Amino acid sequence: MAPDGTISATIFAEMSALAEATGAINLGQGFPDEDGPDEVIDAARRAIKRGVNQYPPGRGTLELRTAIAEHQKRFYTIDVEPDTEVLVTAGATEALAATILSLVDEGDEVVTLEPFYDAYGALISLARGEHRTVPLRLPDFQPDPDDLRAAITDRTRLILINSPHNPTGTILGRDTLELIVELAHEHDALIVTDEVYEHLTFDEPHVPIASLPGAWERTITISSGGKTFSTTGWKIGWITGPATLITAILTVKQFLTYVNGAPFQPAIATGLALPDEFFTDIAATLKNKRDVLSHGLEKAGFEVFDSKAGYFVVADAAPLGYDNAITLCRELPELAGVVAVPISAFCHEELAGEYSSLVRFAFCKRVEVLELAAAQLARLGR
Ligand SMILES: Cc1ncc(COP(=O)(O)O)c(C=O)c1O
Repeated sequence: MAPDGTISATIFAEMSALAEATGAINLGQGFPDEDGPDEVIDAARRAIKRGVNQYPPGRGTLELRTAIAEHQKRFYTIDVEPDTEVLVTAGATEALAATILSLVDEGDEVVTLEPFYDAYGALISLARGEHRTVPLRLPDFQPDPDDLRAAITDRTRLILINSPHNPTGTILGRDTLELIVELAHEHDALIVTDEVYEHLTFDEPHVPIASLPGAWERTITISSGGKTFSTTGWKIGWITGPATLITAILTVKQFLTYVNGAPFQPAIATGLALPDEFFTDIAATLKNKRDVLSHGLEKAGFEVFDSKAGYFVVADAAPLGYDNAITLCRELPELAGVVAVPISAFCHEELAGEYSSLVRFAFCKRVEVLELAAAQLARLGR
């Protein structure tokens, strides 16, 4: 995204093409290389077989909306009404698109953290909103409270947060979440929270901002089955929030995709009802993968930041003599047979400088793939 809001071909496309062309291990894009739980995959197969192949209802099937409401109650003790306070979407991406397009008018400000998931910038531009950002500060990638206070003003329409966070793997602290709720009240802003990595936290439980006192009535919570059930290609996402906001978002959503993924909706409903052990196991498995890759990167000579959740770890290439992560990422397939993404791809150009030697690596891959990547990356330090 250029600073003037122009949407151009991304570094992600360039890096994926490079992975394809060179046969390098693709730690650039965040998708698992193994299938999710059998119960979920089998439920989709059964649904197709029994003819669940036509348009589902506009808000999503009642079965899935009920499963989402029960999930919010089981994990977070949040009460959600399936008929009016849940909307099923084509992934978190459509949830974000419909939310931003329905709630942001030309010139309205949307505040996000920076670095930010690339779709945020593009969607704010599509809505002709103004994108303001709050930098995440090294080494733990938390925002400074004063930066939040300065960025969130009466011009702010949406405060769009993402915790657990892509690309840094940080989790916003409770103090920060409380401050965001306070500022949203003070400036009459709405909170949009992208929680697609909610079940992939390594050492602490996820705290949805909607569960904080005073938050629910102005918060739109977005999640997706893709990361939790390793089904990123199914694109089943959802929104929970107050009925009036859900209705406003539905007016746009119905003309984006209308509906999607009929046989995948009962499958994700099955997944959301899996026992607690499933959810603790996926986080523990991913934590081990984080450790394998983080140690490998350290041994190769990177400075590695602690990833607390999600699919990604950030590493600084400066100790290896690379001040520019874009240059390193272009050379990495040749040097080490690995593809990664520079953090500057998640930043506005003015800010990219501070993060210029930082690289994002995905660890949502089989352990043997990560071990091979680590062995190959070790060549860099020699
Ligand atoms: C922070 C964040 N939000 C949203 C998405 C998109 O989710 P979905 O595939 O459900 O559209 C991703 C996927 O990488 C993500 O990292």
